[in-house]
Amino acid sequence: MTLTEEIAQLHSELASITFTSPEEVEQYRIRYLSKKGQIPALFERFKEVTLEERKSIGKLINELKQLAEQLWKDAQEQFQAAETTSTSGLFDYSAPGWAMARGSRHPLSVVANEINAIFSRLGFTVAEGPEIEDDWHIFSALNFPEEHPARDMQDTFFVGQHPDMALRTHTSSVQIRMMESKTPPLRMIMPGRVYRNEAISARAHCFFHQVEGLDVDENVSFADLKQTLLTFSREMFGEDTKIRLRPSYFPFTEPSAEMDISCTVCKGAGCNICKYTGWVEILGCGMVHPNVMTNCGIDPEKYTGFAFGMGIERIAILKYQVKDLRLFSQNDMRFLKQFSTEW
Ligand code: PHE
Repeated sequence: MTLTEEIAQLHSELASITFTSPEEVEQYRIRYLSKKGQIPALFERFKEVTLEERKSIGKLINELKQLAEQLWKDAQEQFQAAETTSTSGLFDYSAPGWAMARGSRHPLSVVANEINAIFSRLGFTVAEGPEIEDDWHIFSALNFPEEHPARDMQDTFFVGQHPDMALRTHTSSVQIRMMESKTPPLRMIMPGRVYRNEAISARAHCFFHQVEGLDVDENVSFADLKQTLLTFSREMFGEDTKIRLRPSYFPFTEPSAEMDISCTVCKGAGCNICKYTGWVEILGCGMVHPNVMTNCGIDPEKYTGFAFGMGIERIAILKYQVKDLRLFSQNDMRFLKQFSTEW
């Protein structure tokens, strides 16, 4: 048989080969590709070839070699894949299963959901708005004077060089959007992320989360505000929780107050959480300023309303006694795992 004939014969032999087991793949390798196999043998016979034929026959042998190697590679892959997926006869039904890692909610979501649930039982709906806002919704409509320090570069992140657009510093902007677009009665809460240009530390962050609330209707009074907040505090922190309102100032409410609850840790006896006062501040509140109503097209002679706003991180810190605000945004599994039973 000439070398050309032999190459042709091997070619058709290879074309018809199929494999049914890894052993056959190995036999194939030994027979055709190993040192003493048929394909290296062809290279040995290459010496017999005349000079004119060298180029064409050399090409044929190389093609054959490539084909043989490709077949071997494909066959190996075929059985490797089968090995990892096959359970034939070797499956140990008594082996313990893979423990599936169960995800959990972020503690801030747990707390936000709880706040939402309490207020929805009191008849509040949830409203949301954009995090990038214009000056009108963050400040002007809320009765902030032109020179108010909160508008300052030190507190507010402006967007690019735009003097009018900023990351909202509170979710009161959503209150404006709601009052502008709806007619009273309005009873809603606005949860969301807010941004302030503060140095990051255990007690401050450049972003955090708030839930604000708004109730506008005829004859809404300060007593309604107080009762709503008392009910909320008892549901959130326990039946024996007391509240205390201290006079305060916000441009968008009049009168304004800050609300403390009796310390959840020492129950008023004094500890380092409440700095030995027995009280901890949790929110700001007040009666919606008539200017704000007018800015939103609501008649302050006809309607009154209350508003309040609290930091979700602050509530979570009190509820779970978290020592460092930064833990909420570091995604450290050791921290997050502790909340896996909360929902
Ligand atoms: N917007 C205020 C803040 O971010 C909170 C607040 C809301 C106070 C509503 C009073 C009424 O600090």
